[in-house]
Amino acid sequence: MKEVKLIIVGFGNIGRRFAEVLEAKKGFISRKYGLGFSVVAIAEKNGSLVNEKGLDLKKALKVQLARNPCWTGRKSLDVIKSVEADIMLELTPGDIRSGEPGLSHIMRALEAGKDVVTSNKSPIALKFREIMEYARKKGCEVRYEATVGGAIPIINLYRNTLQVNEVRNVYGILNGTTNFILSKMSEESVDFDIALKEAQELGLAESDASYDVDGVDTAVKLVILANSLMGRNISFKDVKVSGIREVNSETLDLAKKHGSEIRLIGDVAAMEVSPRLIPKNHPLNISGALNAVLIETDVAGDIILVGVGAGPRETSSSLMSDVLDLGVRKR
Ligand SMILES: NC(=O)c1ccc[n+]([C@@H]2O[C@H](COP(=O)([O-])OP(=O)(O)OC[C@H]3O[C@@H](n4cnc5c(N)ncnc54)[C@H](OP(=O)(O)O)[C@@H]3O)[C@@H](O)[C@H]2O)c1
Repeated sequence: MKEVKLIIVGFGNIGRRFAEVLEAKKGFISRKYGLGFSVVAIAEKNGSLVNEKGLDLKKALKVQLARNPCWTGRKSLDVIKSVEADIMLELTPGDIRSGEPGLSHIMRALEAGKDVVTSNKSPIALKFREIMEYARKKGCEVRYEATVGGAIPIINLYRNTLQVNEVRNVYGILNGTTNFILSKMSEESVDFDIALKEAQELGLAESDASYDVDGVDTAVKLVILANSLMGRNISFKDVKVSGIREVNSETLDLAKKHGSEIRLIGDVAAMEVSPRLIPKNHPLNISGALNAVLIETDVAGDIILVGVGAGPRETSSSLMSDVLDLGVRKR
């Protein structure tokens, strides 16, 4: 059985949940695909677990990393370069101004001939062309389904199934936190602050929720979709962004009187993120923390995808699909 070796960089919510899903699905993957996966290193900010024969994931998940006998002081860039592996998973938080630390991790992995799978939006949104060109030069793959729409297969749907289609536009709800807040405000007639507080209590929003409510998160995802599905070469600064802070009960009531709801929409063709009126019976009129994306194509027509747009478990499904696809190619 072919053994595919993985390095995980960033062992937070996503990294840990990915490791749990990998462990839980090991038997299924080996029966169905004849593939084994072993994690040979887990890199964190201040050091790494390394075992080139494969780490005990259950132990890595249970015991504090620094107390694990495989703990070393080796930094992520060193581990990515020198530990033998097939795929590097980049799962650190990203800075949208610099793309770091993820950008350096991705470039280092490609330099070392390793494929990359990531859920980190910033480097992909900021340096899409550079990353893809370097990957091509090195004969490597970079996969990033998990950067947009959590569990919803958007990028791989296009890659695997819509190949002959020209994508004319992609637009929709790309941020579950803002959709939850707007739904709550409209359905229960509560103010923005109360809806935001509930989103924070439910773990849907960070204590500093500006990235979500000011539309930045949606804009970053819009850039990734524009560049990867529509062949654009845009960056975050090309997108006109307004968030949901100005939406209040009066605007929501007025929308309702006209048979509509207000939703934060990212629209690639318009290069804009803004609150828009969505008619009640429109497929993008969804409630709660879900995401909904409409892909307009020339041959297949309109395709609408709805699903869970974030969350470590759901995002792990997208990471697994990228990892499995690359693994199968290595068989
Ligand atoms: N959570 C979601 O539902 C979701 C969904 C889709 C995409 N994403 C994206 O996935 C990525 C990971 O998200 P998350 O929720 O797992 O974040 P997280 O819980 O904050 O975990 C990130 C981990 O990366 C570590 N880290 C930071 N800098 C590092 C470095 N230079 N080298 C190695 N490790 C480093 C952090 O360590 P410290 O704690 O010590 O800083 C932390 O353990 C982010 O880019 C996020 O935007 C998340």
